[in-house]
Amino acid sequence: MKIIKTLLLFALAGVILCSCEYEWIQPEKTPVPENVSFSADIIPIFDKGCNLGVCHGAGATPPELSPANAYQSLIDGAYVNTETPEASILYNTMESGSMQTYTDPGDEEIVLAWIKQGAKNN
Ligand code: HEM
Repeated sequence: MKIIKTLLLFALAGVILCSCEYEWIQPEKTPVPENVSFSADIIPIFDKGCNLGVCHGAGATPPELSPANAYQSLIDGAYVNTETPEASILYNTMESGSMQTYTDPGDEEIVLAWIKQGAKNN
């Protein structure tokens, strides 16, 4: 009798769980500014997502993405390609590569717009 009660309880729990509705909330995409500024739009992306301590801080994995050295490190390391912006390592690794998991939706498009606008240190 006890086993039947336990089984019934499990079945009930299963039905309740299956009847729950899950709503996946897509995080809001950050809109792309008309004129992308490296200091005002790109550096905040690196600050919030690229773990400037362990991952891309000074002396860590290249490119260094700290506010002081990110620009030079990206240019010297050829991570941006202003001739063919979509071929840029920085954009590709954020859009579909190994850094996609750390990239908030829309941030890769801001980076691409910045490169298309000449990847200026502005
Ligand atoms: C949005 C934030 C981030 C950006 C823009 C970024 C950017 C990059 C770039 C451009 C590369 C070079 C890829 C290549 O040469 O093909 C790279 C590699 C790497 N990054 Fe990041 N990164 C970010 C976040 C992180 C975080 C949070 C970690 C650590 C948990 C990390 C760890 C690494 C490692 C270990 C590599 C070398 C191996 C690999 O390419 O996967 N990055 N990252």
